[in-house]
Amino acid sequence: MARPFLFGTNFKMNQTPTESAEFYRQLAASVQIPSDTHLFVIPPYTSLAAVTVVAGQPPHQIWVGAQNVHWAPEGAYTGEISVGMLLALDVDLVLLGHAERRRYFHEPDVELNRKVLAAVGANLRVLLAVGETAEERSFGVGGETVLRQLKIGLHDVPPEQLGLIQIAYEPVWSIGAGGTPASPEDVEPIARLIRSGCADMFGETRTSGDRGSGGDIPILYGGSVDPSNAGTFTALPDIDGLFVGRAAWTVEGFLATYRAGYEGKSTSR
Ligand code: PGA
Repeated sequence: MARPFLFGTNFKMNQTPTESAEFYRQLAASVQIPSDTHLFVIPPYTSLAAVTVVAGQPPHQIWVGAQNVHWAPEGAYTGEISVGMLLALDVDLVLLGHAERRRYFHEPDVELNRKVLAAVGANLRVLLAVGETAEERSFGVGGETVLRQLKIGLHDVPPEQLGLIQIAYEPVWSIGAGGTPASPEDVEPIARLIRSGCADMFGETRTSGDRGSGGDIPILYGGSVDPSNAGTFTALPDIDGLFVGRAAWTVEGFLATYRAGYEGKSTSR
């Protein structure tokens, strides 16, 4: 079975609840989602309740994601949010390991692994972000960094929960206003490495029933994606979608980037 096409945005520390809810409402009203596609938006915590109200009863047409979660079910962790709290809001997905969380909040791989296991253990989808820094790339260890993040992050995920996992490859040097956009030639070998790393960990192809396999895990690309380059990344065989920041922060920009990415994938299939 072909892997689904995924496309979504992370609002980072932007937007009020009213703004996020309006974005979701407008987006849902303007898009027809093909059966092979999943769209998602990841607003800040304070917008989640307002957005899930607009999204209505699950299953949500457009997945609503959170930007982080704690691994413990409850307890003395001031400022943190648990998986159960997200599920109580009907959140569909949690982003873990975004480059900004790793860089500014020093989230190590082992901690991310605890978060991944807590989320999938409660049936919450995970988008695990991986990516090397410019410095790691300059020393020629970009691939090693990404594989380490992947292997520790997904350690001990049970095969029957693999269907809840998606990976976002986001080279740190390509993200945000100060980033240098990557080329498809930069992305292709790392995407292939992630694909083979997943297959090494979890097997190449689906073996039986609902046991997932490494080869089925969707891989998204992110970092300075916009409508002009979206299709060049999705044309790569191991890229199954896009994870976009700035270019998708307006409904028009979201739609234009999604359509360019979807077209790039469709023409390459
Ligand atoms: P960008 O952000 O598209 O604005 O570069 C991507 C990200 O941080 O995930």
